Amino acid sequence: MPTFPDQFLWGAATAGHQIEGNNLNSDIWAMEHVESAPFVEPSGDACDSYHHYEDDIRLLAESGLDTYRFSIEWSRIEPEPGQFSRAELEHYRRVILECRARSITPVVTLNHFTVPAWFARDGAWAQPEAADLFVRYVRYVVEEFQQLVDWWITFNEPNAGALLLATGSLPLGAAADDLAAAQAALMAEFAARVGGTPGIAAMAIPVLAPQAVENVFTAHRNARAAIKSIASNARVGWSIAVHDFQAEPGGEARRDDILGQAIHPYWAAAREDDFLGVQTYTREVYGPEGRIHTPEDDDTFLTGWEYYPAALGHTVAQAFAYTGVPVLITENGIATADDDARIRYTRAALEGLAETIEAGAEVLGYIHWTLIDNWEWHSGFAMTFGLIAFDHATFERSPKPSLGWLGDVARSNGASLQVDTQLVLAARES
Ligand code: NOJ
Repeated sequence: MPTFPDQFLWGAATAGHQIEGNNLNSDIWAMEHVESAPFVEPSGDACDSYHHYEDDIRLLAESGLDTYRFSIEWSRIEPEPGQFSRAELEHYRRVILECRARSITPVVTLNHFTVPAWFARDGAWAQPEAADLFVRYVRYVVEEFQQLVDWWITFNEPNAGALLLATGSLPLGAAADDLAAAQAALMAEFAARVGGTPGIAAMAIPVLAPQAVENVFTAHRNARAAIKSIASNARVGWSIAVHDFQAEPGGEARRDDILGQAIHPYWAAAREDDFLGVQTYTREVYGPEGRIHTPEDDDTFLTGWEYYPAALGHTVAQAFAYTGVPVLITENGIATADDDARIRYTRAALEGLAETIEAGAEVLGYIHWTLIDNWEWHSGFAMTFGLIAFDHATFERSPKPSLGWLGDVARSNGASLQVDTQLVLAARES
């Protein structure tokens, strides 16, 4: 029988820019409106969770889940450098209070990819003051919410750029020249939009330039110190993207190279943290010739990722063995239009996780990506990862069966995983 520790957190996650709508002052909003921008559609109103957060939190709580991970948008809190918005701060206070009123534990991400347009204008993470500017914003927020929030995530997937580089997702050679030219044109348009200079203005994500990478590490360390100095009981970590990197014979060096470049430095930096956020969806397999692609078939995510739920248990085991730091799963899920497939995937992922816990890994909780279908960055709204659907005209929410299913798992602290899913769903329908 799957066992999960007492006090295990069971939740769902979102990110401000993907759900709130009209996040007008952020770098990504600016990029979405550049003519040649690589987004299939702009974020627009998203799910209008800025106004519908009460519905989101109510549905989460009614399902049986007990934890909500969401992000605070720096660009709302500080729309111009040094100009802080009381009104936006109060908005997030209402979101947090709504969680607490429903006995939901808030897990707050301070940076989920987006930054204020002015921060991008001045060079994003590459600018010398980057870490100090981030910490100033973090202090402002944490001083206000220290009594209301215990769990803080400084950065979401700061290793996203390192992963692109290490896995070779950014092309080399002639293709790279073409990309660089296209990129330069795009960034010139972006610079104009944020009122900056080409060559200086930069998107916050992906973090590629070595100086920017170093600044992000500094920002994490300094933000952690700042949060702890304000609230000694705060639990601070960062959330690292990691696939289950596997090697066929001859692919070991390639796999180890990826881990060494894109994962281990970020895990190592978490050794002083209170928890390590793990975000896993799939695996990548490497052979002597490089990546071995899995066939696109029915068992593939809408995103094209391989359906491989065992990945979660594997990466959690690796992360805990590498760091000795308790793991909080801050994302795991599947983009699919088939909600039964979402339940199958999540059940298998949790069974694998239970085995990893039984083998000795310290795991604090499981936070599913995502609470509600939302704007999946470049891919737009078609990638439905949500436990809840919504009507794009009225913003009315419709919970999917997977929400109730995961809520039952939460209420029983995993015991219901033993029960046959088909029987439960049939009983719900009759
Ligand atoms: C990673 C990111 O943190 C989140 O924003 C994204 O939507 C999901 N994973 C799915 O791609």
